[in-house]
Parts: sequence; structure tokens; C-alpha cells
Amino acid sequence: MSNYHIKHLEEYFQVYRKSVENPEMFWEEIAEEHFLWRKKWNNVLSWDFTKPEVKWFEGAKLNITENCIDRHLVTKGDKTAILFEPNNPEEPAQKITYKELHKQVNKFANVLKSKGIEKGDRVCIYLPMIPELAISVLACARIGAIHSVVFAGFSSNALATRINDSECKMVITSDGSYRGAKTIDLKGIVDEALESCTCVDNVLVVKRINSAIAMKEGRDVWLTPLLDEVSSECEAEIMDAEDPLFILYTSGSTGKPKGMLHTTAGYMVYTAYTFKNVFQYTEDDIYWCTADIGWITGHSYIVYGPLANGATTVMFEGVPSYPDFGRFWEIVEKHKINQFYTAPTAIRALAKEGLGYVESHDLSSLKILGTVGEPINEEAWHWYDDNIGKRKSPIVDTWWQTETGGIMITPIPFSTPTKPTYATLPFPGIQPVLMDAEGNEIKGNQVEGRLSIKFPWPSMARTIWGNHQRYKDTYFSAFENKYFTGDGAFRDEVGYYRITGRVDDVIIVSGHNLGTAPIEDAINEHPAVAESAIVGFPHNIKGNALYGYVILKDTGESRNHDNLRKEINQIITEQVGPIAKLDKIQFTKGLPKTRSGKIMRRILRKIAANDLSNLGDTSTLLNPEVVQGIIDEALLEVK
Ligand code: PRX
Repeated sequence: MSNYHIKHLEEYFQVYRKSVENPEMFWEEIAEEHFLWRKKWNNVLSWDFTKPEVKWFEGAKLNITENCIDRHLVTKGDKTAILFEPNNPEEPAQKITYKELHKQVNKFANVLKSKGIEKGDRVCIYLPMIPELAISVLACARIGAIHSVVFAGFSSNALATRINDSECKMVITSDGSYRGAKTIDLKGIVDEALESCTCVDNVLVVKRINSAIAMKEGRDVWLTPLLDEVSSECEAEIMDAEDPLFILYTSGSTGKPKGMLHTTAGYMVYTAYTFKNVFQYTEDDIYWCTADIGWITGHSYIVYGPLANGATTVMFEGVPSYPDFGRFWEIVEKHKINQFYTAPTAIRALAKEGLGYVESHDLSSLKILGTVGEPINEEAWHWYDDNIGKRKSPIVDTWWQTETGGIMITPIPFSTPTKPTYATLPFPGIQPVLMDAEGNEIKGNQVEGRLSIKFPWPSMARTIWGNHQRYKDTYFSAFENKYFTGDGAFRDEVGYYRITGRVDDVIIVSGHNLGTAPIEDAINEHPAVAESAIVGFPHNIKGNALYGYVILKDTGESRNHDNLRKEINQIITEQVGPIAKLDKIQFTKGLPKTRSGKIMRRILRKIAANDLSNLGDTSTLLNPEVVQGIIDEALLEVK
């Protein structure tokens, strides 16, 4: 018997011990008892981190949508699967039952087929948080097409890069999206992106805001009339355990975004099992994760994990500040939310607005609170605990990554005592280690190091689309035989982990992963710019904000700096998206470089944070003299 639902600390330790002493048996029992297989596996796990190659449940056959939808039809066909809360609070919420979801996913899948989409084809989904987003994701999975969801806040350029990288045959978008009081012309962004993509045959357009948009003859089609023409039955494609399920792009510290490839069986088993335990989901609960399905959190913990458990999962189209800063709490009250999962950035932003917005709502339905995406500071943790959870709802600070597919380090509510700013203990099956710079494991407690994982887990990404070498170089080359996360962590006296932040050139701004390279590339396109370097600096609400050091060409020297700042941010918005705009820009004469020409970001980070206490040894720089110049400039004119 597997312990699918961990209920106290002793049980957690028992389960954890079993999961590391005999991982194959552990995962096999969970997979056996809680999922629908068309055929069982021949082998639970084979792995080799030197290649790297990892295979879970090899030989098994399944379809993830049969697990997320069909198997619930008999016992909970009339239960709400997706509860949609629109941007406009006046618009009624929509309840989609499991039966209805089944019908809609099947119809959508038939439309995809009618447009020539087959197993293995890539489909790019660029949609707002409306039910069609979850439905199209599931429709792809139904027929074995690989979905690549691109967050609908990315620019046309960023979208084009992602469409081209995985050669998507189709784009699914809408006539626009609502975002608070604004609307966004998503279709216009797609049209612009497609000017530089030759792989896309069709654009399927969902009607959402009823705006007049241009439809390109022979390429663009409205979804609704097609849905009317097709059957509401679509046989699920039978997939191998290791067949690809989706690609999701994440920023790298250098180069273009990495298309992380997740496969079917292991991802399903891990996201379902973590969902059940991390949120202690019970049958009548209403669960709400505020993330966007454009990020991994939405894939794993709005769509697949909850639906595989037959849960009711909320999808919210809007923003926390519209029509006012009480919107989250209004929704918690309205739908009697039991589990609430959000980002530290949102908590900090809402805390700043005062308690009035909180106190006017009844939050007594809440049982469990969660955070994800970035470290949570102590003050925000306490604000969340005191005012939202009223000190009776445990906070699960869940550490994980796009690459890990599911939650890796987290408290189990009502089992693991929580500790502010600590993600606490590894989830069953996860074997974290801390490494020093020389590649030795740091044993014992009260130590800090680079967080790595020494044993495979079912939902780990299997490769980077089209570039296995980069997958190996990025994750499996820093430390022999280990997956390197890119994060630093501290392990306290009882073995709890606290994530201290990235140790590479990825910067987490408002919970979003941003690589420095694409932003620098965008800045360097400005005709007045010679060179640039981006670093993160601490920010009250966003966690980190971006600070750009920009060297101007001679021809740019005479330009007005405030105008240049606006233009630079405009280019970034166009090339990457508004989330990557710089908070501060310093025009500088030089950048500190190593002898091999690499920018020494460590020094720039310290100057940006106004922490000049220990700049480290600058004598090994190619140009140590520039450092004082940068410090002097920083004092004079940075905006
Ligand atoms: O630095 C860690 C941070 O977010 C990174 C992963 O970002 P992404 O792939 O976009 O996935 C975010 C959602 C899972 C990690 O390498 N991070 C994530 N969760 C936490 C965190 N940092 C501290 N505490 C967390 N709970």
C-alpha cells in the first residue's frame, strides 16, 4: 500500500525514508494504485546522469487526459473541474464540470485534428487566463501533440523566438485579452511574430473581447464555428510513458530561452502526488493557484496536478489590483477558497496597500496558504500568516523550477512545522545535496552551498528541445553525477533548507525568471548604445529589480539621458516584454572585466545594491581603474 496522503510528521519521515531507500518500489506503488494505465511499465526507472538520460515507467502506455478527466466521469462527472473567475467582477463566474470539460476538450482536440495536427506536432498556445487555455492544453495532450504555452505577456519578438525554436505548426490565440482596465491586442502581437516564422500553417482564434481584428485568409480561423462542426468524442491517443507532453521555455543565463521538455508518465505521477500532499487536498475543497498557465506553476498546479486528483481548480483572468487591491480576498470569500497559492511579490504588493482591503472580506474558508517562485522575506511571511491565514493556516513555501516539473522542497501542511523563509524539507523522493565550489558535497547542518539533486525524480525535464548538449552543460556538468539547480541554499540545524537565491546570471523579478543576455541584446540594439550589463538589486515588492549599466557610443554622449532611458525601456518592452524593463539605468564609461573579457557582475551587483563594504579583489581585473569611476557615477546620476 502506498501512502498517498501523508498526515503527520512521523508518517512523512517514514515515507521519506522509504522513498530514498527504495525509490523504484516507492514510485511504483504510487503509480500502480492511483492512475489509469492502458498498459503497465516493464521497468520503473533507468538513469544515467552522465549522458544524461532518465526514463520512468518505460513500456507503460497511457493518456494523461484520461487520468485528468475520463476516469472521474463516473464518480464526479457533475463536480466542478474548472471554476473560472473573469477579469470583470460583474461578469458571472463559470463552472465547468468534469463532464463538460470532457466534451470541450474532445471537441477542441477534434478541431486540432481537422487542421492537420498529429501526435508529436508542436502547438504554440498564446492565450489569456480563460478556460480555452486549459482546454487547449488538454486537447493537445489528448491527441499527443506537444503544447508550448507562451505567457501572454511576452512580446512578439519573444513569441517568434519560441515558435521558431520548436517549429510550431499552429498558434492558438485570442482576439485580445483583458488585464484590469486595459485590453491587450494579442492577435496583433501574434501577427507581428508570424512575420518572422515560416513554420506556422494555422492560427486558431478564440473570441474573448470582441474586438475587430484582421484575419489572414487561409491562415487564421475562428475557433467557435469549427467547434460546432466536430464530434464531442475524441479517442485519446495512447502515449508511451516517455513520449513528450509539453515544452515550456525558461530563461537561461546566456543565449536564447531553453525549451524544457517534459514527458508524460513521470510528470503525471509526480504532479498529482505532490498536489495531493502539499495542498492536503480533500474532496470538497476549492483550490486556487493565482499563477498564469503560461508558467510551470500553472501547468503543474492549475491544470495537471489538480485535475489528476479530481479537484476543483480556479482560473482567474484578472490582476490583484482590479477593480481594487481587495480582489484576491473578494474571490477567496466569494468561492470559499480552501487552498490559496500565490507569489511573494503579490503578497508584498498587497501588504503595502493596507489591511482595509483584507478586513472587509471573510477569509475563514482558508485552510492552507502557499508561496512559490522566489524567496519570501520574513516580513511578508508574517503578514501573510497573521492577516490572511490568521495564524491557523500553514504556509507552504514551495521551492521548485520549470526544470523540476513539480514541487521539490516544501513543508507538508499539518506535518512539517513551518519556519519563516524556509522551504523546509525535501518532498519524498527528492535527495538534495549542497556542494562547494570545488565540487565536494558539504555534509552536516548549518552549512551553505550550491543546491543540487543526486537522484532522479519522475517529473524532471528530460532535455532541452533541440539541444541536448546544452541540457547537459547547464544542469549536469557543474557537479559530477548530480543535477545542479542554479540556486544557493542554507541548511539549518535541523536540516531545513532556505533558498538563498540564484548563483548564476538568472535574475528573478517578481517571481519571473529573467536571463541577462536577451535583455542586454535588446539594449545593445539602441543606436546610441555601445555595450551594457544587467544585474539585479533588492526591491521591496519585486524581490529583485533590474539595474542596467550602459556604455554609450560617442555619438550618443550628447543625448538627453532621461530620453535615452525611456527609449531603452521601450526596446526592452518590444524585444522581451514589459516584465524585463529596467528600474534603474546608469550610464557609465566602462564595465569591469576579467582578463578573458567576461563582465564581473559580482562587483556591479554590489554597486547596484549600494553595498560597497566588500567589493572583493579587483586587482585581477583587466581594467581595475573603472570600478571607482562606476561608484562615483552611481552616486551622481542613476534613475
Ligand atoms: O531561484 C529559484 C526560484 O525560482 C527559480 C525557478 O524559476 P522558474 O523556473 O520560473 O519556476 C518558478 C516556479 C516553480 C528557482 O531556481 N524559486 C522558486 N521557488 C522558490 C524560489 N526561491 C526561493 N523560494 C522558493 N519557494
